[in-house]
Amino acid sequence: MDVVLVGLPGSGKSVIGKRLAHRHAATFIDLDERIESASGRSIPEIFADDGEVAFRALERSAIADLGPADREPDVRRVIATGGGAIVDPRNRWALYRGRTTVWLGGRPEVLAQRLRRSPHVRPLVSGRDPIGTIRDLANRRERFYAAAHIHQSGVAEVHGVVDAIEERLPKAMTAAAGGTTLLRATTSIGRIVLGDGILVEALAAELEALGARRAIVISEPGAWEAVGERAAAGLRERGWAVERVLLPQGEASKRLSVVESAGSELAGLRVERSEPLVAIGGGALGDTAGFVAATYLRGIRFIQVPTTLVGQIDAAIGGKAGVDLPEGKNLVGAFHQPAAIVIDVAVLRTLPERQLRAALGEAVKMAVLGDERLFELLEAQGSAIARCDPAAFASGAVAELVERAGWAKVEVVIADERERGGTGGRIALNLGHSIGHAVEAAAGYGGLLHGEAVAYGLRAAARIGVEVGVTPPERAERIGRLLDALGLATEPLPYSLEAILAHLATDKKHAGGRLRWVLPTADGIVVRDDIEVEVVERAASSLLAAGSPR
Ligand SMILES: NC(=O)c1ccc[n+]([C@@H]2O[C@H](COP(=O)([O-])OP(=O)(O)OC[C@H]3O[C@@H](n4cnc5c(N)ncnc54)[C@H](O)[C@@H]3O)[C@@H](O)[C@H]2O)c1
Repeated sequence: MDVVLVGLPGSGKSVIGKRLAHRHAATFIDLDERIESASGRSIPEIFADDGEVAFRALERSAIADLGPADREPDVRRVIATGGGAIVDPRNRWALYRGRTTVWLGGRPEVLAQRLRRSPHVRPLVSGRDPIGTIRDLANRRERFYAAAHIHQSGVAEVHGVVDAIEERLPKAMTAAAGGTTLLRATTSIGRIVLGDGILVEALAAELEALGARRAIVISEPGAWEAVGERAAAGLRERGWAVERVLLPQGEASKRLSVVESAGSELAGLRVERSEPLVAIGGGALGDTAGFVAATYLRGIRFIQVPTTLVGQIDAAIGGKAGVDLPEGKNLVGAFHQPAAIVIDVAVLRTLPERQLRAALGEAVKMAVLGDERLFELLEAQGSAIARCDPAAFASGAVAELVERAGWAKVEVVIADERERGGTGGRIALNLGHSIGHAVEAAAGYGGLLHGEAVAYGLRAAARIGVEVGVTPPERAERIGRLLDALGLATEPLPYSLEAILAHLATDKKHAGGRLRWVLPTADGIVVRDDIEVEVVERAASSLLAAGSPR
């Protein structure tokens, strides 16, 4: 099996890698050296001549040239990567799958000192404040390095480092033969682990980290059949006792009566304050289970295991838990952050096409908020993802989508956990939601999936933005073209303008008399509370079929 070394510049990947390869009579591959010999130039020269983007393209093709991972039980290749190679989700997909990964860490001060003595110039850390630059790189990259199987400080004496890696190699190789962890982050809104085929392993690790003595799973019939049952069997195989509390499927779980009966079941199982719950399901299940966790015994810890695309890129992230009332959606709830979020993209393979496609409405929203790479990914691969094309899973496109859209939400929420902030905060996530909610309500919450409604809301927001001069027409056209390609919000709606306006008026009342419109700009959003009602009416009308009742 291949061993891949990752870490910051100066962490010792080449030295340790060579020594490790030598011990196994394996081939040592230094990706940076391969790039240099293929292009006939040093890396600083490539950076100086063509810039970082060109270098990253060469790096991508050097990774592709590695070919498939070697799956034999002995170590045949040791691969040292450039420090930034793993930032690109597709590089990680190509490098980490089926390979054992080792993260060589080290304090920024020590790494900077080493780099000063090194004959090799590292273009990204050759400036005036190497320690500051390294610290900054470490903050931005840690979640990618931390996905590795083995975490090892690379700054001790070489033999000792290699010995320490050797010792943990057999266990890491067994883990690598299973699923692939692509990202692992410790954040103020919970630990986040994302990967492909990692569910049981990652869930068991989180339960252990929380000191759980059993797994108390809350799920619903659809998610249980698709995911939960297998996860429970895997946990039992690893010696965990598993208890199960099943809630109703879909939006039907988001009722106070369900919270009451779930609480009774937990009491019947004698669940104590120290015991974490595990929520396995989509956004509806996660919202209710989160509220149960927020209120049972005045709040206990829980692990979110989102099984739908909406759950993985949106609902499971951010700590908003709650249920519906007859008067409206999500009217009773709490902020309650999960202890951990375990995101396994493999579970999305069983999702019905309509669910996957609709969730892309939220992904488009995250792209429009200012993530150009996500925008490009959706333009290039979105329609294959929407069709549940197996190739989109196999190529890593789905994993990249989940990571980019999910992490964009993580960053917004961390900046404004309780929705107190101004324009840079959580309100940004309401892009497409004012009219989206109104359309959803006009459809009686049954006709349209949430993401489908958001897609209509995005079209309307872009139209309003163009009319008031904040959205460049080219940006609005690009958003429209993407939604067309994804097959979202393409049909005129059969609802009445009055119904939509009535719901907007209710929203306005809840917002203290002023609706705050989130509108696209050339590369992000602005928030405006001065949009004339006629402008809104024109935008809403543009979504409706000619002859819709007024
Ligand atoms: N808390 C938040 O921040 C937040 C954000 C967005 C949405 N939401 C909420 O999320 C809910 C919508 O979530 P959703 O779209 O995930 O719907 P959902 O939870 O109702 O799941 C949709 C359907 O998919 C099935 N399912 C789940 N996982 C599956 C799998 N892996 N394979 C096959 N089928 C599977 C479910 O049984 C269900 O029938 C809404 O109630 C919305 O209000 C909350």
